[in-house]
Amino acid sequence: MKISNRLKVIASFIKDNSNVIDVGADHGLLEIYLLEQNKANSLFAVENKIGPFTILKNNLKDYKVDLSLSDGISEMPEHVDTIVIAGMGGILISDILKAHKEKLTNVKQIVVDAHRDNRLVRETITNLGYYIEKEQIVFENNKYYFVISFLKGHKKYSEDELEWGYKTNKDPLFEDYKEHELNTLSLNLVKYRSSERATKVGIETKEAKIRRLMNL
Ligand SMILES: C[S@@+](CC[C@H](N)C(=O)[O-])C[C@H]1O[C@@H](n2cnc3c(N)ncnc32)[C@H](O)[C@@H]1O
Repeated sequence: MKISNRLKVIASFIKDNSNVIDVGADHGLLEIYLLEQNKANSLFAVENKIGPFTILKNNLKDYKVDLSLSDGISEMPEHVDTIVIAGMGGILISDILKAHKEKLTNVKQIVVDAHRDNRLVRETITNLGYYIEKEQIVFENNKYYFVISFLKGHKKYSEDELEWGYKTNKDPLFEDYKEHELNTLSLNLVKYRSSERATKVGIETKEAKIRRLMNL
């Protein structure tokens, strides 16, 4: 089956024989790919809206995947040891995990791909008792995505690691991403400087962030 490189990277991060929940499974492409790759021991696919859930149910009718029309990890069975949440904003991903912290006891691995607010995602999941195992940058549809795998345990991270990722400056795509991000931050600074709400501290903070990224 043909799936995006982003979903392939997510699948490659999942440990063999895992019991996986995919929150926001949409069309179920990741599930079909994981089954083809013989990667997961069990699969639990969740959608919280009836439209996508109906498509999911139809697409997976011939596959061994448990389905649930529910919110986030609220109905996650106890045997699940791996959570995948991909293709959403970082605020939503953080809220989904924080809403049911008590369900994380048996969860060994969390694989995420947030479309924005990766800093918040890294901060939230490390605060929930996980460390960053690895990250990979994926460039798709003219956008940079960070696929991140967390494992159970504790580790302290620098401000730069929380903001731009753990060892991501070694990623083959990092220099391209950095150039793109520096352009965005510089444009934001120009706009901010000329806005009425600009303060000296605000300008200095933005300038410092640009300098930090330049030095990575
Ligand atoms: C853009 S799609 C991403 C699909 C797939 N995970 C991917 O990465 O390509 C996001 C999906 O998450 C679902 N979703 C959003 N919030 C959710 C929640 N709280 N619980 C379950 N599913 C949710 C949406 O209905 C949507 O189908």
